[in-house]
Amino acid sequence: MPSKIIDEDVETISKDIGIVAHILSGKTLLITGGAGFLGRYFLATLDYLNKNVLEKPCRIISVDNFITGQKYDLQESPTFQPIHHNLKFPLEIDEDIDFIIHAAGIASPKFYRTYKIETIDVGTLGTKHMLELARYKNVKSMVFFSSSEVYGDPDPSKVPTPETYCGNVDCTGPRANYDESKRIGETFCIAYHEVHGIPVKMIRPFNVYGPGMRKDDMRVVPNFILNVFHGNALPVYGGGQNTRTFCYITDAMTGFFKILLSDFNGESFNVGTDKEEVSVETLAKTVASLFDQPVEIKNTAGINDAYSAIDPKRRCPDITKLSTKLGYTPKIDLRSGVLRFTKWAIEDNWSKVSDVKLKTETPLQENDLNKRQF
Ligand SMILES: NC(=O)c1ccc[n+]([C@@H]2O[C@H](COP(=O)([O-])OP(=O)(O)OC[C@H]3O[C@@H](n4cnc5c(N)ncnc54)[C@H](O)[C@@H]3O)[C@@H](O)[C@H]2O)c1
Repeated sequence: MPSKIIDEDVETISKDIGIVAHILSGKTLLITGGAGFLGRYFLATLDYLNKNVLEKPCRIISVDNFITGQKYDLQESPTFQPIHHNLKFPLEIDEDIDFIIHAAGIASPKFYRTYKIETIDVGTLGTKHMLELARYKNVKSMVFFSSSEVYGDPDPSKVPTPETYCGNVDCTGPRANYDESKRIGETFCIAYHEVHGIPVKMIRPFNVYGPGMRKDDMRVVPNFILNVFHGNALPVYGGGQNTRTFCYITDAMTGFFKILLSDFNGESFNVGTDKEEVSVETLAKTVASLFDQPVEIKNTAGINDAYSAIDPKRRCPDITKLSTKLGYTPKIDLRSGVLRFTKWAIEDNWSKVSDVKLKTETPLQENDLNKRQF
């Protein structure tokens, strides 16, 4: 669905990528998971670059099996080719490929607990198949979307967590299928880099959120916003004292492109924000503060209880590596990002309750990307 908020986001991302975007001129990119949250932002940004920035448009091939993906906004065209394919099987493509963005995965705990084996398949077999394709096509760069979950529940002395921290993961716990598949995915990447010289980089995103996430995704930001729209209390599981940082999509996407277009082959990068490590309860209060009507926050022992008991207690990235090597600086503070998400959710008709209103000092037409910053 066309969206003013997403259009503004995409323009911001394109500006922030800067001059290196021209490397993509006339090239072919293959993106996996193109129908997912991050994938759809990649497609929208590349489409914007094609129309406004690149001398010669790039060609985009998007591969998805729609296990959790949503309908594409782009129509099939000479510059956009969708392929329906399950990455647990090898992928054959006739044409040359210059870049691979391997973003397929099953990211939301709601879905990776439902699709336990599929989650392992896409992180392990899917990654191997993309590395084989990268080898065969002799690509210029590949990124693999790993996760901050490779760190598991980090020792408090390792928060903010640098890329050098080895992690604290239970290989049979409720998150193991996701966490361990990302860990072995990274191990595949390193092995292919060392054995075959594949120019692959591993990206570890930390709680990226923004417009375009599925309403039923159940990741915490869309879950809170949906509950406000449904007139429900915001459910805070397990005391709500676990802390996280939340990175708005424009900041994260800028980091992703910088890594893709760099030469730091065989390296892992945290992508997120190191500002505002907040408790889940504080996040709930931030969401509630945007609205005119009182929003209740409720401590709940819900369906997620078993899960929340093993939830990592703290998560905050050390982003020194990305900042110093690639000049990455996240700009959007939590309130501004959540406000943009909420405005988009209104645009997207998430609202079921007619009297849900944003506070008057948070008007819909404002472009907060230019206004509120750290
Ligand atoms: N969004 C975040 O905050 C975050 C954090 C850490 C890691 N990641 C990783 O980044 C990537 C993108 O995240 P997202 O939020 O867009 O996830 P998402 O779940 O919204 O999208 C992933 C897409 O991959 C597709 N997919 C899954 N299995 C597939 C398979 N076997 N074959 C083909 N397509 C398949 C899904 O249909 C979906 O469209 C994922 O790998 C995720 O694990 C994301």
